[in-house]
Amino acid sequence: MNIRNILLVCAGLAVGVVMAQFNIFPVSALTTALKPSGSAGPAGSAPRFTGESVAAQEDQSVPGDTSKQGLITEPLLWKSKHLQAAINVPVGVFHPHEGEWTMGPIMKNNTELFKGKRVMEIGTGSGLISLIAAKHGAAKVVATDINPAAIESVTTNAEALGYGDVVEARLVGPDDMSAYAVINDDEQFDVILSNPPFALDLDAPGNDAVTDTGELGFSIVRGLEQHLAPNGTVILLYDSLFYHQVMVKYAKYMGYDVRNNNPNGMYGWAAESLFNSYLKRLLESEKVPLDAISFNYHTDEGLEIRYLRNFALNPKQMKYQPLFDPPSPQRYYAGFIVIRN
Ligand SMILES: C[S@@+](CC[C@H](N)C(=O)[O-])C[C@H]1O[C@@H](n2cnc3c(N)ncnc32)[C@H](O)[C@@H]1O
Repeated sequence: MNIRNILLVCAGLAVGVVMAQFNIFPVSALTTALKPSGSAGPAGSAPRFTGESVAAQEDQSVPGDTSKQGLITEPLLWKSKHLQAAINVPVGVFHPHEGEWTMGPIMKNNTELFKGKRVMEIGTGSGLISLIAAKHGAAKVVATDINPAAIESVTTNAEALGYGDVVEARLVGPDDMSAYAVINDDEQFDVILSNPPFALDLDAPGNDAVTDTGELGFSIVRGLEQHLAPNGTVILLYDSLFYHQVMVKYAKYMGYDVRNNNPNGMYGWAAESLFNSYLKRLLESEKVPLDAISFNYHTDEGLEIRYLRNFALNPKQMKYQPLFDPPSPQRYYAGFIVIRN
C-alpha cells in the first residue's frame, strides 16, 4: 500500500468516525439486504435493478485497490446504500465511497430538492451522485467529466439501472475545462451538485480527480447567473480548507446567499500545492532555479494532514451553521458549501 492509499484509507476512517459521531449514517442499519426491485423507477419504467439483491457497503472502508488521485485500479462492484443498487465502476475512475458517504446522506435528507427537477453534476466520476439524483426523482440529470472512463461508468450504469433516459453524460474536452463548457447557452438547472477536485494548484499540468488548476472552481460560480434556475440550489464539497474558503468568499463576492461548514482538516497534498505555488513566485522573483527547493508533504514535517478542530473528540463544542432552511440533519457536514440565488 503506497502513501496515497494509506492517506485515502485514513481520510475514509476519519470521515467515518466523524459521521458516526453525528449519527449521520446509522452503521448498524446497513446490514439488511436491499431489494432494488421494491423501489420505483422513473415514472412508468420497469424496476431498475434486476440482478440479485445487494447488501450495501457497511462501513467506510475502501474496497478495491485505489491508486494516486483515488482512482480505482481494478474493476469495482460498488453496492450503494443510497442508490439501493450496485454499480460497476471501471478502472481509472474516482472511487465512489466519498460521494456515497458525503453527498449520499445530504441528498437522502433533502429529496424534495430533486423530485421532478433538472440536475447537473460537475465531475461525476463513477456517476453515483447523478444516479442517486435520478433515484430521488430528478426529471433530468446532466453529468459531466473530463475523464472518458467516468463517462463510460455513468452511461453504462444509468442504462443498466433503467435511468438511461434521465441521466445524460457529457465529456468535457481539454480545450475548455470550465464548468459549463458542454452546457448549451439556454440550459438551466434547479440543482447543481459537485464534489470537484479540491486541491488548487495553479502550476499543475492539468486537472485530475483531486487537482484543479483553477479552470474549474470559479467557473462554477461564474456561470450560475446563466445556468442556475430561479430559486436553484448549488451543493459543493471542497474538502480542503483553502479552496473551500476561496470558493465561499468568491460566491459571496458574486452576490449569492452562501452557507458553508468548514472542512475539519487541511490535507497534506492540498497544503503542499499551496506552499509550492507561493514558493514558485518567490523563486522567480529572486531568480533562484525553480527546482532548487520545493515542498513535499511526505517529507516536510508540518505539511501532513492538519486537523483544524478536535471535531471527532468533542462534537458538542462545535458551533454549526445550518446549511439548509429549515435546518436539516445534514447541517453538520464539514466541507459543504450551499449557494442559492
Ligand atoms: C473528487 S472526484 C469526484 C467524483 C464523484 N463526483 C464522486 O464524488 O465520487 C472529481 C471528478 O471531477 C472530474 N473533473 C476534474 N476536472 C473537471 C472539469 N474541469 N470538468 C468536469 N469534471 C472534472 C475528475 O475527473 C473526477 O472524476
